[in-house]
Amino acid sequence: MLKISTQQASIFLVLTLMLGTSIRTVRSLSMSASTSKKPLHFHWFRQDLRLHDNPALNKSIQNGNRTPKNNDISNGMVPIYCFDPRFIGGNTMTPFGSQKCGVMRAKFMLDSVADLRANLEKKGSGLVVAYGKTEDVMQKLCQAIDTEVSNDDIEPWVVVQEEPYSEEESVDKAVKRSIKTFKKDASGEFETVWAASLYDIEDLPFNDGVYGMPDTFTPFRNKVEKNCKIPNPLPVPPKNSLALPKNSAIQSVLSGESSNSIPNCSLSYMPTLEELGYDAEEVEKANNPDKRGVMEFKGGETAGLKRVQEYIFDKDLLKIYFDTRNGMLGADYSTKFSPWLANGCISPRFVAKECKRYENETGIVNKSTYWVVFELLWGAFFRCFAVKHGNKLFFLDGTLGRKAHGEHANSRKWGMNPKHLQAWKDGMTGYPLVDANMRELKATGFMSNRGRQNAASFLAIDMSTDWRYGADHFESYLLDHEVSANWGNWCSAAGMTGGRLNRFNIVKQSKDYDAQGDYVRHWCPELANIPTKLIHEPWKLSKEQQQEYDCRLGVDYPNPLVPPTAPNPYARDNRGNGRGKGKGGQNQKGKRGGNNPNRGRNQRQDMKSLNQGSYKFD
Ligand SMILES: Cc1cc2nc3c(=O)[nH]c(=O)nc-3n(C[C@H](O)[C@H](O)[C@H](O)COP(=O)(O)OP(=O)(O)OC[C@H]3O[C@@H](n4cnc5c(N)ncnc54)[C@H](O)[C@@H]3O)c2cc1C
Ligand SMILES: *[C@@H]1O[C@H](CO)[C@@H](O)[C@H](O)[C@H]1NC(C)=O
Ligand SMILES: *[C@@H]1O[C@H](CO)[C@@H](O)[C@H](O)[C@H]1NC(C)=O
Ligand SMILES: *[C@@H]1O[C@H](CO)[C@@H](O)[C@H](O)[C@H]1NC(C)=O
Ligand SMILES: *[C@@H]1O[C@H](CO)[C@@H](O)[C@H](O)[C@H]1NC(C)=O
Repeated sequence: MLKISTQQASIFLVLTLMLGTSIRTVRSLSMSASTSKKPLHFHWFRQDLRLHDNPALNKSIQNGNRTPKNNDISNGMVPIYCFDPRFIGGNTMTPFGSQKCGVMRAKFMLDSVADLRANLEKKGSGLVVAYGKTEDVMQKLCQAIDTEVSNDDIEPWVVVQEEPYSEEESVDKAVKRSIKTFKKDASGEFETVWAASLYDIEDLPFNDGVYGMPDTFTPFRNKVEKNCKIPNPLPVPPKNSLALPKNSAIQSVLSGESSNSIPNCSLSYMPTLEELGYDAEEVEKANNPDKRGVMEFKGGETAGLKRVQEYIFDKDLLKIYFDTRNGMLGADYSTKFSPWLANGCISPRFVAKECKRYENETGIVNKSTYWVVFELLWGAFFRCFAVKHGNKLFFLDGTLGRKAHGEHANSRKWGMNPKHLQAWKDGMTGYPLVDANMRELKATGFMSNRGRQNAASFLAIDMSTDWRYGADHFESYLLDHEVSANWGNWCSAAGMTGGRLNRFNIVKQSKDYDAQGDYVRHWCPELANIPTKLIHEPWKLSKEQQQEYDCRLGVDYPNPLVPPTAPNPYARDNRGNGRGKGKGGQNQKGKRGGNNPNRGRNQRQDMKSLNQGSYKFD
């Protein structure tokens, strides 16, 4: 698959090894460049679409402010965002056959970039937006500027927030190459900056840093909370610090008005969804969000900050988060910060600081006010986990590797039935809770955490479907898609990160978390008349009841795809506990492997048993 060519894997290894040390800067060249060259600073915005608490942007500003004011090329910087057809576009497909970026997330990104541009303009700056492969855009732009600035040689200097994933890193490498080869004797600098997680990766309190971190969350959390401080969020940069270079030749190229300007790349250019290759029907869908959705998700820092203020302070919901977070209906049960966090419109450190401010101002400090930060720590965990394990996150066997073939209790024989997969995607599995959630995802680009866990467990464990098809579908549709969060959670849901497998008993979960059936009725109207007692198990309806409640199984609503209590058909042995014939023998642990669908005792306690932890700032 796309993410795992061996060449990419080795690039990844080299990069991550370098990044694992305290020097997180990747330099493309030694400093031997000729002194007559003038650095031209670019801040390449990617998944950091904000001005507040943006460590990469801070670095760009520092670079640009280091130079004397009379150097009108090097003083200041050029903010740039590139819609790269490898990551976004109606015709950009994954190796699993999905659109890589569905139209709803594409719309969210367009709105986020437009908002970023507006915010930069308010600060007297601007944002160059381009459409094309990032390295091609950078190369042409550097050539154009270099030509226009006839008396000087420019030396491009690019800073970008690190995305520690192979696809992004191969683009980094190409960009690095393009800025030092855009002309003969060119030279350039390329830096990545770690951000987008609660803690700095260098601060991790494990021997060997990120490579020594545990593979399970609880020990990671305990040690990090005890030993680390969250860096204080950086303020929005002051107005003058964001200025574009004053050089008029540069400005004329960027404005798009010079004969040297390049097409589809300027301070005013913005592609439309149609230009990105989405068809009319898709565009219509993105512009008219489904009214049944939990809330309106408008891309951008402005809307993201507004939601933070609304959730924590205006609606005063933080103090009850712990008790509401497993809900599935409406805006209030959880923060809904994820689309903004994943696209970098808001920063996790800023959110944590707002939680602290709430505690300060109200005097309310309890499990609820702590727990949002606890969730953000999950995000940090998976991001670090991805750095540690690299492309294994995208392998069917996950981080278990060879152990996934019998030796480990979570071993499973994966299959892929295209009809089953499609039914799952369409919300037609015959399991109302799964179907409601899958329909919500398709219609709105969002799904609750409770829903995601059930939908993933159902596909991977109940249907033993190659879980990567599930992750791929989520990647396509989720507004909040983030590589490590999505692939890490999926890999873990499939049992392929080790640890104890959590098989969700769908019917039990339905009754626990949708006791009245409101959520199911919301998304599966064909079940609306079924009494609550039976709504989560429609297969139990008699023929007469099906008539009475206007829901004929196999006609109005599907029969269950797999039997409700089916043993794992692919289990390595037929005792139904999925335990391999390898090591481990017959001890009790085998019974705790997650393949007994009727187990109640071992149903995940949903972390309720975990204690309140703590978080502190620098
Ligand atoms: C199979 C699966 C796939 C997922 N894919 C993604 C994804 O692509 N992007 C994503 O942001 N989250 C993902 N999650 C995690 C989680 O479901 C969502 O972050 C959450 O539902 C978003 O809603 P919220 O913002 O209201 O979350 P809240 O409950 O309010 O949590 C606050 C924030 O904490 C973070 N967070 C919470 N839980 C997790 C978690 N398990 N892993 C990582 N971060 C977490 C998110 O940034 C979230 O916005 C996935 C979970 C599962 C089980
Ligand atoms: C950049 O970060 C440093 C702290 O690391 C801070 O002192 C400085 O003010 C920041 N600069 C801007 C422009 O935000
Ligand atoms: C500009 O982009 C549009 C799509 O947004 C594309 O159709 C067109 O060919 C591009 N123009 C040039 C000159 O590259
Ligand atoms: C909380 O209050 C303390 C003491 O008044 C102060 O030092 C700290 O900065 C405050 N923190 C936040 C996040 O407001
Ligand atoms: C936290 O405190 C608030 C306000 O007193 C209260 O409503 C809420 O139930 C508490 N939550 C928990 C989990 O302790």
